[in-house]
Amino acid sequence: MIGVFDSGVGGLSVLRALHAAIPGTPLCYVADSAYAPYGERPTAEVLVRSALIAQHLVSLGAAGIVVACNTATAIAIDHLRARWPNLPVVGIEPGLKPAIAATRNRRIGVMATPATLASAPFAKLAAAQADGAFVLLQPCPGLAQHIETGDLDAPELIALVRRFCEPLRDAKVDTVVLGCTHYPLIARHIQAAVGPHVTLIDTADAVASHAARRFGSNLDACGPSAANPMGIELLSTGDPAALRKIAAAWLPFAASVARVELSQPAARAA
Ligand code: DGL
Repeated sequence: MIGVFDSGVGGLSVLRALHAAIPGTPLCYVADSAYAPYGERPTAEVLVRSALIAQHLVSLGAAGIVVACNTATAIAIDHLRARWPNLPVVGIEPGLKPAIAATRNRRIGVMATPATLASAPFAKLAAAQADGAFVLLQPCPGLAQHIETGDLDAPELIALVRRFCEPLRDAKVDTVVLGCTHYPLIARHIQAAVGPHVTLIDTADAVASHAARRFGSNLDACGPSAANPMGIELLSTGDPAALRKIAAAWLPFAASVARVELSQPAARAA
């Protein structure tokens, strides 16, 4: 089984691509919806949650992990790789490189969580990939949280999208990076807000192809799970209703959905 996790429902955009890239491989997805949004939480908390979820996936027999969350990748992937050195761990980061390849006027916008945009890995990525282009960083606090409700056409959500897209329109960017895995779920609203001539960049397919190559022979160890003959299991630490709703609309395959309790073990007394 390959383990996949996100702060919530956003990583389903990556799960769909992953299923297409490695069809038949059992997948177990954890949405940490009880703790979403990660992008507005302290770094230490995102680290602890990411490690706890990875630990759970490892205990279920994961042969590899996809961190389907830009925020958790920026904050926790080095820690996960250090803790499980023999486990392939693939992450996702805002698609600056494909944006540079796609832009015609060399004006790019990046929509992401405040934590991703403030992270050192993002600063490094931007320095390495921006290639002198104008890059407008647009933090979107509250957006992932709205998406978590499962009502992707709520007027408040659409109003928030318009608000965050206004500076991008004003700056006349022609390419916008969806730097949070929640945002592809509302790409149609973002596209409507920035205009039809703007290219949206979602790296889910690229991450899925990279994961397929990276996991390589580990995939042979991913036998079907007897507990879940469908092979795709979705777990939520919060109310699974939103996960179920978005999975039904977004995934082209059936998957079981259940709640999982993942709390930090209480500190041991000295
Ligand atoms: N989906 C996540 C990401 O890609 C984060 C959303 C959040 O919990 O803030 O960054």
